[in-house]
Amino acid sequence: MRTKMVAGNWKMNKNLQEGVALAKELKEIVKAPKCEVVIGTPFIHLATVAELLKGSPIKVAAENCADKEKGAFTGEVSAEMVKSTGAEYCILGHSERRAYYHEDYAILKEKVLLALANGLKPIFCIGEVKEEREAGRQNEVVKAQLEGSVFNLSAEEFCNITLAYEPVWAIGTGLTATPAQAQEMHAYIRSLLAEKYGKEVAEDTTILYGGSCNEKNAAELFANPDVDGGLIGGASLVAEKFKAIIDAR
Ligand code: PGA
Repeated sequence: MRTKMVAGNWKMNKNLQEGVALAKELKEIVKAPKCEVVIGTPFIHLATVAELLKGSPIKVAAENCADKEKGAFTGEVSAEMVKSTGAEYCILGHSERRAYYHEDYAILKEKVLLALANGLKPIFCIGEVKEEREAGRQNEVVKAQLEGSVFNLSAEEFCNITLAYEPVWAIGTGLTATPAQAQEMHAYIRSLLAEKYGKEVAEDTTILYGGSCNEKNAAELFANPDVDGGLIGGASLVAEKFKAIIDAR
């Protein structure tokens, strides 16, 4: 049985004190979740939040890491540094990183390799923009994203990857993919994994849905056989809402 998961992505929200307060609230109310629970926080929160969540089932993720191992890269944070905070996961390939910080397939391929080399589990995001969906090109876009940045991995390495299908037109817009659209894409992604790595790896890979997933629509999305959970932005910033999504999984 593959891991079911609800992961939060705080993005560039919450200063350190606010982030610590939210993590404390979550620690109080998330005691025995039925799925893996992860919160993705800004770099500066990681060490404090990871320490605070010791003994809690909630795991911590970075939202990014550098595409270089170490050295003269002012302002960057390496995968090794992330790992040293106590974080276990690293969100990579988020559409905001691709769009605003020009992270292309090659850069993301390096980031994935460095995350894995440092014992971090990547949550790798893929998904098409609105124009691509309207042109019916969503499948080829998602396939190219996988081929460009993660299909170089061996099957053994790939087992550490969680995928997140996040249609860009649904992120932060209130426009959620319908449960049928999500299921269709997740099943397609799983078929690509089966082709590349075989049925067993495909069946074992956790594929999250992200994009305006909230406490109201989560249960309906998670009811689909190939939707293993969610990557949650806005609704992960409010403890009760995030808890309700975890309970829906
Ligand atoms: P959203 O963001 O839930 O606010 O749409 C999801 C994401 O970008 O991971």
